[in-house]
Amino acid sequence: MTETPETRAARAVDETRLWDRLMTMASYGALANGGVNRQALSPEDVAARRRMKRWADARGFQVTTDGIGNLFVRRPGSDPEAAPVMTGSHMDSQPTGGKFDGIYGVLAGLEALCALEDAGVATRRPIEVVAWTNEEGSRFRPGVMGSSVFAGRLALDDALGVADGDGITVASALAEVRAAETDIPVRDMGGPVASYIEAHIEQGPVLEAAGKTVGVVTGIQGIRWFDVEVTGREDHAGTTPLKTRKDALKAATGIVTALGRALADPDDVVRFTVGRFEAFPGAPSTVPGRVVFTIDLRHPDGATIERLSAAIAKTSVVEAAGCEVAVRETMNAAPTIFPDEMVATVRRHAEALEISHLELPSGAGHDAMNMHGLCPTGMVFIPCENGISHNEAEAATPGDCAAGARVLTACLTDLANR
Ligand code: GLV
Ligand code: MN
Ligand code: MN
Repeated sequence: MTETPETRAARAVDETRLWDRLMTMASYGALANGGVNRQALSPEDVAARRRMKRWADARGFQVTTDGIGNLFVRRPGSDPEAAPVMTGSHMDSQPTGGKFDGIYGVLAGLEALCALEDAGVATRRPIEVVAWTNEEGSRFRPGVMGSSVFAGRLALDDALGVADGDGITVASALAEVRAAETDIPVRDMGGPVASYIEAHIEQGPVLEAAGKTVGVVTGIQGIRWFDVEVTGREDHAGTTPLKTRKDALKAATGIVTALGRALADPDDVVRFTVGRFEAFPGAPSTVPGRVVFTIDLRHPDGATIERLSAAIAKTSVVEAAGCEVAVRETMNAAPTIFPDEMVATVRRHAEALEISHLELPSGAGHDAMNMHGLCPTGMVFIPCENGISHNEAEAATPGDCAAGARVLTACLTDLANR
C-alpha cells in the first residue's frame, strides 16, 4: 500500500476504540432485546450528546450546536478561511431500533477526527462531525428534520412548532436539551460547506450477499410520507345496524387493501408501508369513528413516485365507503444521485486501502439527501447482518465498522485538502 496522508490517517483508525464507543452509546436507551430506543431530544439523546461532548473535549475539538439542536464537533484546518468538510449522521433511533443505524456514522466521523490527531495529519479545511436532530422522524415528523433546516429546505420556526404524540413541541424539547448544555455555544444556522460524506450501515442485504466490506453509494431513492385520516361516526356496537354505520376502521382497512393492489409491482421495486395505524376511541363496544394511518412510499425514479403519489390520493378517496378521507403529505424527498466525483472518491480510497467494495444505491433515507444540493455529497456503507435494520437485532462486526471508518477517514483527509 502506497503511503499517503490519507492512508496514514486511515490506518490510525482504532477498531477497539470505535467499537467501545458504539457499545457505550448503545447503553443510552438500551432495550431488553439488545436494541435501542433513543428518541430525538429525549433524556437518552441528551445523555448521548453529553457523552459525545466529553469525547470531543478530551481531544480538544470544538463543540457547538445550532437553532434546531444539530450538534457539531470540529477539528480545525490550517486555513482559517476555508469552508469545512462535513461528515456525520444521527443519534436518534426508531422506537425499537438497533445499535448502529445513525450512531455509526456519527462515531465513525469522530473516529476519523481522532485518527487524524493520532497520525499527526493536518488538513487545510476544518472537518466537522455533525449529529443531525431527529433523522428518524419517529418522535417528530418530518424526519431528517435537522439537516432539512440546516440546508434551508424547512423553515426553523415550522420545525420548532412540530409536536410529538404527547403534544410536546420541538421548541420545548429543545429548551430542555439546552438547559443541560449550557457549556455548548449556539452557532448560526447553515453556512458554507465544502463537501459532505456520511457513513452508515447498509440496512439491506446487498453487501453481505456479495461478500463486500464497503458500499460505494451512488444515490438514494425518493421518499414520500403521507398521513391519512378517515373520519366516520362513533356508534353503539350492539345496537347500530351494519348498513347504517360509518365505520372508519372498515373504510381504512379497505383503503389499505386497495392501495396494496394499486401499488403492486411485479418487479418488487416499489416500497409501500403502513407503519402506524390507530383506531379511535379504541373501545371494544364503540364503532371506530376515526382512524389515522401513515404511508411511507419509496421509488428510485422521480416520475414513478409522482404517479404513485397521485394514485394514493385518488384510491383513498374512491375507497372511502361513506366516510371522510383526508390525505396530507408530510415528507417529500426526491430521488438523489450523488455526483460522479464523490462516488469516485469513495471508490478510489477503498481501492487504495485494499478494502473490497461494491457500488449500490441506498434504499433507506439519510441526511445526505439534504446535503446533496448544498454541496458535493457522498456516502459510505458497511454491511449489516442479514440486512436487518429498524429492528433490535440489527448487527455489524467490529472489523466492518473499522473498515468503513478507514474509507471515511481517507475520503475526509482528501476532501479537506482540496
Ligand atoms: C431512515 O431511517 C429511513 O426511514 O429510511
Ligand atoms: Mn439512519
Ligand atoms: Mn433509520
